[in-house]
Amino acid sequence: MQKEIIQFDQVSLDFPGNITVFENISFRLLEGTFHFLTGASGSGKSSLLNLIHLSMRPTKGHIRLLGYDVSAIKRSEIPFFRSQISFVFQDFRLLDHLTALENVVLPLRLQGVPFQKCRLQALELLKWVGLEGFYEAYPPTLSGGQKQRIAIARAVITQPKVLLADEPTGNVDDQTGVKLLYLFEELNKNGTTVLVATHNQLLPQEFSYPQLYLDRHKISLILPAEGETLNGF
Ligand SMILES: Nc1ncnc2c1ncn2[C@@H]1O[C@H](COP(=O)(O)OP(=O)(O)O)[C@@H](O)[C@H]1O
Ligand SMILES: [Mg+2]
Repeated sequence: MQKEIIQFDQVSLDFPGNITVFENISFRLLEGTFHFLTGASGSGKSSLLNLIHLSMRPTKGHIRLLGYDVSAIKRSEIPFFRSQISFVFQDFRLLDHLTALENVVLPLRLQGVPFQKCRLQALELLKWVGLEGFYEAYPPTLSGGQKQRIAIARAVITQPKVLLADEPTGNVDDQTGVKLLYLFEELNKNGTTVLVATHNQLLPQEFSYPQLYLDRHKISLILPAEGETLNGF
């Protein structure tokens, strides 16, 4: 049976100045699933991913990640969770003074793994994302799509259980965006749980995965074929 890997129970998130982002939202994602996270700009997509990436704490409610209660996670344990729940940003966040290869090995280097031990794995990942021949290239010399491919390789070098992506196709053209989604799809087929935030309506049309839809501080699930909406799942 599939296990719950992310679970929100009656979660609320407020910001100072009377800004309510979420009000008592509950949902659960099973291990190995693929979901889009949709909703208008300002509906809380990035905030929701930040809660899952432990960069924000909820105002109210309970979040469980990988079976652990988030409120009990210590600061010193955050790097472990971030290696298991990896994040791909819209603006790539690569280090421009490092080569593609050096960017990809970074998460393992930060864990103290020697370069020679992670080099081969990084080369394989760069090949997988279609960047064979660009190992020594510096990010400023590459296109948006190529940079995002490096960012994806870097995000998965720790073999995360969950991959979160915040508008990963926001800085590339539609055709490149669809190709990037193929990479997420391939990871998912190998067991990674994937959650992709997007305001690009094209992606949920091209890829028939369920959508977590944010609207008016609430969340609902839209299933692909029927376009059916389930509230309070
Ligand atoms: N750090 C913050 N401080 C105050 N308000 C914020 C902060 N981050 C986001 N918000 C507000 O929370 C709401 C949701 O933002 P966000 O999660 O970025 O939405 P989306 O990613 O869907 O565009 C917006 O009203 C935004 O202005
Ligand atoms: Mg956002």
